[in-house]
Amino acid sequence: MTLGKVWPRPDGSEKSVFGGITGVIRRQEKIAVVGVNGAGKSTFLKVLAGQAEPSTGSMNLGANVYPGYFSQHAMDILDPRKTVLETLQDSMPTAHLGTLRNLCAAFLFQGDDIYKRIDKLSGGEKSRVVLATMLVQPINLLILDEPTNHLDIQSRETLLAALQNFTGTVVLVSHDRHFLRCLINRVFEIDHGEMRIYNGNYEYYLEKSGREHRAA
Ligand SMILES: Nc1ncnc2c1ncn2[C@@H]1O[C@H](COP(=O)(O)OP(=O)(O)OP(=O)(O)O)[C@@H](O)[C@H]1O
Ligand SMILES: [Mg+2]
Repeated sequence: MTLGKVWPRPDGSEKSVFGGITGVIRRQEKIAVVGVNGAGKSTFLKVLAGQAEPSTGSMNLGANVYPGYFSQHAMDILDPRKTVLETLQDSMPTAHLGTLRNLCAAFLFQGDDIYKRIDKLSGGEKSRVVLATMLVQPINLLILDEPTNHLDIQSRETLLAALQNFTGTVVLVSHDRHFLRCLINRVFEIDHGEMRIYNGNYEYYLEKSGREHRAA
């Protein structure tokens, strides 16, 4: 049975988001999931992350695959009363203060910034905290839904470098073309409920799909 997802509509009818998907994601692939607004990118990532049940077929993780999921609302799971340092401490309970400070610095929290409370942070700062807590976990499959949305250029570059050095698998939705060009080696395009797979980098996808000229 191929992988498919149907969401219920408020009126009780069903909306088929995608269907007929088969495929294998291999170690170390850096995959972009692309498609127009509402195509089903976030839905596909949710199914992949085990956050939503497929309606047909199944998604199986290999042995020793440890997924981490950054949703479009990932920041909401942070405790607003904790500081940046306390939040990172919670995700690395055995780490020394020096290690935690280095991690903070790597995600651009300098000096007293690490004592700022989560509820005082900007959207970009909160995203950085979530991404830092994710990247220190023993995760080897990162599922990221628009992680760069609230990030400024410097933070985007920091995240890009971290993902380029990441030895696991990445499945990513992003509208940031620079990001896609520098990271991606495979593209899944969702179009009218079907998935097309391009086994190449982002330039290859643009060329083969004929989307080069329409590209924003
Ligand atoms: N939890 C849900 N319940 C019901 N319908 C949903 C749910 N989540 C998404 N949908 C519907 O599924 C379709 C695909 O939505 P999805 O969020 O996956 O698209 P997307 O490609 O991520 O869009 P965007 O680029 O705007 O983020 C939309 O029609 C949406 O309204
Ligand atoms: Mg989405």
